Amino acid sequence: MKSLILYRSEYGSTEQYAHWIQEALSSDLDRFDNLGKYNIEDYDLVIVGEGVYAGKLKTPKQLIPIMEKYPDKKYIFFMVGIADMEDQENRKNLYGDLTKAMGNAIEKTKVFFLRGALDYSRLNFKHKTMMWMLVNYLKRKPEKDLPKDADKLISTYGRRVSFIDKDSIKPLIRYVNGESSE
Ligand SMILES: Cc1cc2nc3c(=O)[nH]c(=O)nc-3n(C[C@H](O)[C@H](O)[C@H](O)COP(=O)(O)O)c2cc1C
Repeated sequence: MKSLILYRSEYGSTEQYAHWIQEALSSDLDRFDNLGKYNIEDYDLVIVGEGVYAGKLKTPKQLIPIMEKYPDKKYIFFMVGIADMEDQENRKNLYGDLTKAMGNAIEKTKVFFLRGALDYSRLNFKHKTMMWMLVNYLKRKPEKDLPKDADKLISTYGRRVSFIDKDSIKPLIRYVNGESSE
């Protein structure tokens, strides 16, 4: 199966995962911004990866017209975020974020969740400000009203945390190789 991986990564986590997936599948690989360089007709499978920021994703806007133009291709989307991806509630929320961005196209997309990293020293001004606002908002909330993982977000604020794990791409690889439907 000939596959193309296109990724959008601000700080490198999604890029790292995209490279590992490329190694495993011998896919073609590029930044999502270079989508226009590729003839999708040449591929059986398109894999798109993106890091999620405040529940938002930028690639679906350009991906949807491609999916409409090539409805017989297979599509995989892998979302990278700092949330604990073993937690079903987090997955449900992230899937909801992607559904908002993709609309009906989500039905034709197999979705995987991979855990990324946060390095405050590398964040741009906008992202630093967003995290500062979020953490201050959370700190003001009574403990009983805090959303899941909020305590970890507060306690790791300003530091570098990484949950990047090469093994977590295995379900995606198994799925592409037809070894599982998950
Ligand atoms: C401002 C900001 C907002 C974020 N929002 C979310 C979020 O809504 N959900 C989540 O799981 N991770 C969130 N993250 C974490 C990023 O998705 C994570 O750092 C990811 O590894 C980024 O991928 P990249 O390195 O490829 O850019 C956020 C990070 C920042 C800096």
